[in-house]
Amino acid sequence: MKRVYLDNAATSYPKAPGVAQAVYNYIENIGGNVGRGTYKNAYSAGQMVYETRELICNLFNFDNPLNCVFTSNITQSLNILLKGFLKNGDHVIVSSMEHNAVMRPLNSLKKSGVEFDRIICRQDGTLNPEDIKEKIKPNTKLVVMTHASNVCGTILPVEEVGKICRRHNIHFILDSAQSAGFLDVDFKKLNLSALAFTGHKGLLGPQGIGGFLIDSDFVKEVSTLSEGGTGSLSESELQPDYMPDKFESGTLNIPGIYGLNAALKYLSSTGIQNIRKIEQELTEEFIKEVLNIKGVKLIGLRGIEGRTSVVSLDFVGNDNAEASYILDNEFGIMTRVGLHCAPSAHKTLGTFPEGTVRFSFGHFNTMDEVKYTVESIYKTIKML
Ligand SMILES: Cc1ncc(COP(=O)(O)O)c(C=O)c1O
Repeated sequence: MKRVYLDNAATSYPKAPGVAQAVYNYIENIGGNVGRGTYKNAYSAGQMVYETRELICNLFNFDNPLNCVFTSNITQSLNILLKGFLKNGDHVIVSSMEHNAVMRPLNSLKKSGVEFDRIICRQDGTLNPEDIKEKIKPNTKLVVMTHASNVCGTILPVEEVGKICRRHNIHFILDSAQSAGFLDVDFKKLNLSALAFTGHKGLLGPQGIGGFLIDSDFVKEVSTLSEGGTGSLSESELQPDYMPDKFESGTLNIPGIYGLNAALKYLSSTGIQNIRKIEQELTEEFIKEVLNIKGVKLIGLRGIEGRTSVVSLDFVGNDNAEASYILDNEFGIMTRVGLHCAPSAHKTLGTFPEGTVRFSFGHFNTMDEVKYTVESIYKTIKML
């Protein structure tokens, strides 16, 4: 049976060419820890880690590789940033399209006296940046927002949000999980205080590696969530306060960084605009076709403008879980059904608690796969 992978919003597959070889090469031929050994292989791994920080900085237009911190994923990055910064009495603004990687830490911080307000987006997932102004209070310290919805692909107006934050002297943290690798994510243009990223989605790297970039002033206001060995300042029992050691306790995911390095080189040689163009062509064709199908409803924006390649469908009057099961079982099409760890987004879109079937394209998908998927949706509806 044909197999068509359409779950790139969860994790990209296949990975960029060279990623698997880079991970293998490190484990098989290099080994050695970073910043801990005085032998050649440890230096060579150390150089590779530093080069990867530089590649991340190039991608996101950021100047200081030492303020690029590696973590295991964006969830960990967001936890460090939110819990390390926010204190009793602070107020935060979020959009109603956030993933639980933002909402769960914020709800947990409520117990420590942190409060938050949600800007309710329109039913297509779009946000009016002016709505932020009404929510700003004297104790508003932070806006944290996803760049694009992981449910329906709507892109949020983060440049305008960044300008408002700058004018009101509020920090701005971006969740780039659904934009990095195919949208322009520019630390300076967006007026960010910190940018959280994950390596295994649009960046096309392996799972288990993520991180964040952080502004040199903001970093002074963020305390650590974990402390331990850093390979540096070993005479002291206190955590170093310099970067990136302040936030990188314990051995890094070095194989993951080797893989991410290869992925970032692939992105730079291919050009993220070219990746975006292919994804847009595939998504546009898919949307054009599904709009003609009776029995499915497109959730979110109905055109290609202002969206990514994440498309949610509701199999109206039927069980979406069954539709997703049939698509996989009968036609080999891999989608993700349910609430996508984003109950607030589904409430905004009017698809809570039923959820949707999410089709997320990557630039390795083909037009033939789009056509096959459309035909399979027609057949699936008949089988429901
Ligand atoms: C918008 C958004 N934020 C955060 C995450 C969490 O990513 P990770 O599991 O890599 O930490 C996801 C993953 O689906 C996401 O879509």
